[in-house]
Amino acid sequence: HGSSFSLRKDRVPLVFYWIPWVGSAVTYGTQPYEFFDNCRAKYGDCFSFMLLGRVMTVYLGPKGHEFVFNAKLSDVSAEAAYSNLTTPAFGEGVIYDVPNWKLMEQKKFAKVALTTESFIQYVPLMVDEIMKYFKTSPDFQGKKGEVDVLKSQPEMTLYTASRSLMGKDLRNMLNAKYAGWYSDLDKGFTPLNFAFPYLPLPGYKLRDKAHAHITNTYMELINKRRKESGTHERDLVDALMNNSTYKDGTKMTDQQIANLMVGVLMGGQHTSAATSSWFLLHLGERPDLQEELYKEIKDTIGDKPLQWQDLQKMTLMNNTIRETLRMHHPLHSVFRKVIHDLPVPGTKYVVPAGHFVLASPGWSMTHEEFFPNSQHFEPHRWDKLGGAGGGFKKEDNADEKEETVDYGFGKISKGVSSPYLPFGGGRHRCIGEHFAYTQLGTLLVTFIRNFKWTSKVPEPDYTSMVVLPVGPAYIKWEKREKD
Ligand code: HEM
Repeated sequence: HGSSFSLRKDRVPLVFYWIPWVGSAVTYGTQPYEFFDNCRAKYGDCFSFMLLGRVMTVYLGPKGHEFVFNAKLSDVSAEAAYSNLTTPAFGEGVIYDVPNWKLMEQKKFAKVALTTESFIQYVPLMVDEIMKYFKTSPDFQGKKGEVDVLKSQPEMTLYTASRSLMGKDLRNMLNAKYAGWYSDLDKGFTPLNFAFPYLPLPGYKLRDKAHAHITNTYMELINKRRKESGTHERDLVDALMNNSTYKDGTKMTDQQIANLMVGVLMGGQHTSAATSSWFLLHLGERPDLQEELYKEIKDTIGDKPLQWQDLQKMTLMNNTIRETLRMHHPLHSVFRKVIHDLPVPGTKYVVPAGHFVLASPGWSMTHEEFFPNSQHFEPHRWDKLGGAGGGFKKEDNADEKEETVDYGFGKISKGVSSPYLPFGGGRHRCIGEHFAYTQLGTLLVTFIRNFKWTSKVPEPDYTSMVVLPVGPAYIKWEKREKD
């Protein structure tokens, strides 16, 4: 078993554990924030624990965000930490199955489909998908009913993302079969992958079959579009068809382009589905906020169809998403593998190569020290920011540095020492933030315009890929009377 004492004076203190190899996996895996709080009480912000044969060094709080997100490429590796999880699900040659410089270029290729001009196109398409879902889903028939958001939100997220990022020609394939493939792909996308990526488990076999179905469909789509005349700039498919040549002159293959589409879609799928599930559940406990949101929508657009520009004016709506991400960050931990002995700034510690480092913005965002009354869902706590526009704002961060850095996918702020960091920072920062705000905003507005609902917020389940409410998680809805 382990010990909190190390013979070496420069080792981060190791949390005591009973079971060799397994270490603190159970307490960490089921209640990560509570586990962090307990360790912090004993050891301070920086401590190590044993997780299925790996030594994880946690650094809590804004200094830890800086330590992990801004660590040098020569010192830490994300691909060595994540590829067991992602490569079997996304496929080869993309995201964490390539050297970092290729990932940076792939993010740049995908970003072409994630601009303001694209979002303006996407919003009406998303509204259309959402309204179709309300019309056709058995869970939304009649004047009132109830729906398990753990069923509806993954479906609505997949349909709105696929419809916007992959275009109308894919729409015909957006049927139960397509959703079924993604749900099978999901069965092999679990925290278990970190330890055992390739096992002869039924879930893993379904995953591999589903991956083949999905990428074959995407490649068919690419081939169909090749036969069209002229170039288009409609969506992610066009973006990657027009530009996926690396700076060394090599081109991505069609299979790799299809795999990258899966990776981008999956990057947004669980995170966004979890976030909309949580805001629906919280708002179900707050009819006052639903009415305020309804008024904000009325005041902004009346009964007109929603456009992307309108979303930017809806302060409370954006603050509702912001507050949901604060209380329910989908990823409770982010990791890197240390590849070069790494001193911990401000301490006497050195993390040796082979260990992992872990940051947890989700912990900071739910900690009283940084967010008083942190367990209270209150979008209005963000009012003084002015709110509109979504995403990370300079004002979120008192000591935000003006300095920016460009890793290839656009200028991003260098400062990551904020307690509020839902989209990470540094070279691995999320490229999907504005897409997520667009998709979530469109969804929230369309829900509010059509329904009123009640619910009771369930406890979080930390054992799945993203932090989800314990299911089933029902909201009871009734159709909103138009006034
Ligand atoms: C990276 C959060 C939506 C694509 C990240 C990271 C975080 C994050 C924390 C950094 C991970 C790390 O440093 O290890 C979120 C949240 C989302 C969201 C909270 C929604 C509420 C999306 C969407 C997309 C996307 C919609 C795609 C359209 C990506 C990609 C990366 C990333 C490609 C880069 C991975 C890397 O460079 O290593 N996201 N994300 N995300 N996300 Fe998101």
